[in-house]
This record gives sequence, C-alpha cells and structure tokens, in this order.
Amino acid sequence: MSYHAPISKKMASLQTLSSTISRLNLLQRSSFNYSLTSLKLLKFHEQRIIRPARSPFSFSTLSNRSSTFKPIKMSSKDDLIVLGIETSCDDTAAAVVRGSGEILSQVVSSQADLLVQYGGVAPKMAEEAHSQAIDPVVQEALDKANLTERDLSAVAVTIGPGLSLCLRVGVQKARNIASRFNLPVVGVHHMEAHALVARLIERELQFPFLALLISGGHNLLVLAHNLGQYTQLGTTIDDAIGEAFDKTAKWLSLDLRRSGGPAVEKLALEGDSQAVKFSTPMKQHKDCNFSYAGLKTQVRLAIESRNIDATIPISSASSQDRNSRADIAASFQRVAVLHLEERCQRAIEWALKIEPSIKHLVVSGGVASNKYVRARLDQVVRKNSLQLVCPPPSLCTDNGVMVAWTGIEHFCVGRYDPPPSVIEPEDFVYDLRPRWPLGEEYAEGRSEARSLRTARIHPSLTSLIQASMQQQS
Ligand code: KG4
Ligand code: ZN
Repeated sequence: MSYHAPISKKMASLQTLSSTISRLNLLQRSSFNYSLTSLKLLKFHEQRIIRPARSPFSFSTLSNRSSTFKPIKMSSKDDLIVLGIETSCDDTAAAVVRGSGEILSQVVSSQADLLVQYGGVAPKMAEEAHSQAIDPVVQEALDKANLTERDLSAVAVTIGPGLSLCLRVGVQKARNIASRFNLPVVGVHHMEAHALVARLIERELQFPFLALLISGGHNLLVLAHNLGQYTQLGTTIDDAIGEAFDKTAKWLSLDLRRSGGPAVEKLALEGDSQAVKFSTPMKQHKDCNFSYAGLKTQVRLAIESRNIDATIPISSASSQDRNSRADIAASFQRVAVLHLEERCQRAIEWALKIEPSIKHLVVSGGVASNKYVRARLDQVVRKNSLQLVCPPPSLCTDNGVMVAWTGIEHFCVGRYDPPPSVIEPEDFVYDLRPRWPLGEEYAEGRSEARSLRTARIHPSLTSLIQASMQQQS
C-alpha cells in the first residue's frame, strides 16, 4: 500500500449499473426516526421483522448503543440508499449506492501527484490530502447522485485495515454526517469490501466462494463462507504484489501518475517475458502463502546489472535502454503472476475440500485490474471448472462503491451502529482497526515464516461476527 499525498482530482466517471441484485427483502421493526428514504417509500406488504444484531462494528470505546436506540423499518433492500466512504489508503473515495446494486455516483480523488513527488509512503501527507479532499469528494458524490444527506438510509465507512491517520479522516466525516442527519453507521472491513463488490456486479455469486484479494498492502486468499465469515487460506509473509509492481515501476523510472502497476503493465507489453530469468517465490513451500520481497530484490539486481540509468525517465530513455526496461517489466510481471497462479491452484484444491460447493473465484483489489493477471487466472479457474469473477477496474482499485455495498450487505442483516448522539470532538478516540485480519487462518496453511512477523491488534472480523452471533442465540 503506498501512501502519498495531495491531490490531483481525478474523478472517476459516474457509473450506473442497471438494477442488479434484489435477493433480500429484509425489513426491520419500526418507528425509529432515522431519515430513511425507505420510510417515505414504504409499501408495507410482505414485511419481515429483523432484530438488529449486536453489531461487531462498534466504533467508540464508549458504548454508543444507547438505550434510546430502536430498530428501523424499511420496505425492502432495494429502497436503501447508502453513502460509502473510503480513506484507508492513498485515495479519498465516496459513492452512493442503492440496495438494488444501482450505483448512483462514484467519486475518487487520487493522491498520485504525491506518489510522483515523494515516490513512497508519507502517512502524514496522505492524512492531510484526505482531509482536504474529503468534503468535496463526499459532496460531489451526493451531487452526482442528485441527493442530499437527508435522502440517505445509512453511512458506511472503512474502519480498517489501513493507516490510522487516514482511516480517521473518513470515519470522522461519516460520523459527522450520521450524527447530523440521524443515520446509522456501518463500519466496513476494507478487504471484505474488495471481495463483496463482486456480488454487486455478479448476481449469480453466492456464498461460499473463493477470493484472491491483491492490492498494494495485501495478498489474501480467503474462503468466504458467508457474510463476515472467512477462512484465510493464505497471505503474504512480506510484501504484497502491488508493492512489488510499484517498486518495479519506480526503479524503472516509469510514469507513476496512475500508480506503478498500470505503468509496468503497459511497458511489459513491449518486452520479452522470458528475457530475464527471475525465480518464482516460495516454490518449496507447499502452502497458499505469498512472498514478493525476494522478487523485488531480483528486479533491483537485474536493473543494476543492466546499467539502466534510473535517473532518466522512461520517456527520455534510448531505445536500447527502453527495451531492457521492457524486458524486466515483462519478466517481472510473468513471474509475479505465476506465483499467484500456483497459489490459486492449490487454494482451489483446499477450498473444494472445505466447501465442495464453491463455483467461483473472485479476484479483486487494485492489481486485479491488470489484464495479464485476469487472463492467466481465468485459465487456472477454467481448468478447475470454476468461474472467474473480476469486478471492472474502477471497482477493483479502491473506491467508495465497494464500501457502500458492503455496508448494505451488513445493514440488511442488522449489523450497524446507531447514529452518534453528538458530533464528536476533534480529539475523539475512534475505533479504528489498522491491523484487522479478515478471517482465521486455515490450520494447514499456517506458515512458519509468516508466524514470525504477524502482530495482531484486533480480533478478526470473522471471530467478532461469530461472537456476536453466539451472543444472540
Ligand atoms: O486496492 P488498491 O487500489 O489499494 C490498496 O488497497 O492498496 O490497490 C493499489 C495497488 C497499487 O499497488 C497499484 O500499483 C496496483 O494496485 N495496481 C496495479 C494495476 N492497477 C493498480 N497493479 C498491476 N497492474 C495494474 N493494472
Ligand atoms: Zn484496497
């Protein structure tokens, strides 16, 4: 994950999908004075009653589940309108999504300019950039949707994993809106959101399914049993694949304005992917974990040994130098993706043992927008008679839609926090989860290398949800 800062406003285009999912028609018991659009639209037939679950998403360390909190009533999932806010990484994003899956607006303000300027992680700058962008981004999302806060049913926001400084900006904004307009809040797990957005675009996608989530900071293979319930089959023991793409781009002096990944993908098209003999990571480990630190080192050494002058941007390089860089880009990409292919093949075998009914592999996260990644993983999936579900690139990279949609999914089963009673002060201690595993590790998949480095701060999303379900039963 790279964190840089200010702000070239690159607004993603508004994307409207026709009504997609209307699987659920869940209703909640009434009478709370939320400003639910659905209350205005209520058709009181076929109502079902749900008690709100004890939410695992409590934000504050204080109990904000006040005794005046009452469940809400809505006519159907389709009537929900949820604002999603995402600030966990280096993009400030917001979107408005209907319960039907219709995307009413989508806005992303990228910090790519800072990436170019500083070439790396700068958490404080990223926080500043989020703080500058958050109000206009949320406003633009509402404007594009032709709505005001009063039309919303709930606000969903990423609470982890990510950088605390950055997460805080989004959570504060979400809770300010929720408090002012009396809206429930759903705290969202960033990686679950990457996985679940696939259910917005593919209505056939039911639990259980297998998911490969590949981004700047994460490399996860998870078995999604149900909403909020995941088994982690594999993760990275060091760097994620996106980080390796970003460093390769930086060391090759590529144009980083759209982040490193797309730049490497583009240059790789000109190169010979067999030209440089990189070795595939973790061949000797028969598990589903990943490692990209060694491949990064191999790339750096290859650049050094070819006398590439990384002070010269690719646009000014001689044609011979450009060819050398293209060969490195192509060879790196081939091996980086081969590592994914091998792990996915094993994960499919494991997943079919645990959940024989799985039919899909979801591939999501920023790196999933890479065409070579998609094509190669499609072959793996087909060989195993499964189907690949890959969201469109604008929904693979960080976005507010995935947060809004995940909020909708949890909201519909009663997992949300009541509106904050007052606007919280600047120094309020929010419940942020910078290190927040999605699921429990699959015992067979535990890697000795991995257990050396992981310090958990929060219990996993899955364990929280299981505990809340046990409390209710
Ligand atoms: O999911 P994401 O937008 O943010 C994080 O949660 O990290 O992923 C960002 C990562 C960056 O490392 C970026 O270089 C990579 O996704 N990425 C790509 C491509 N587009 C974005 N990597 C390879 N090929 C791409 N086309
Ligand atoms: Zn992400």
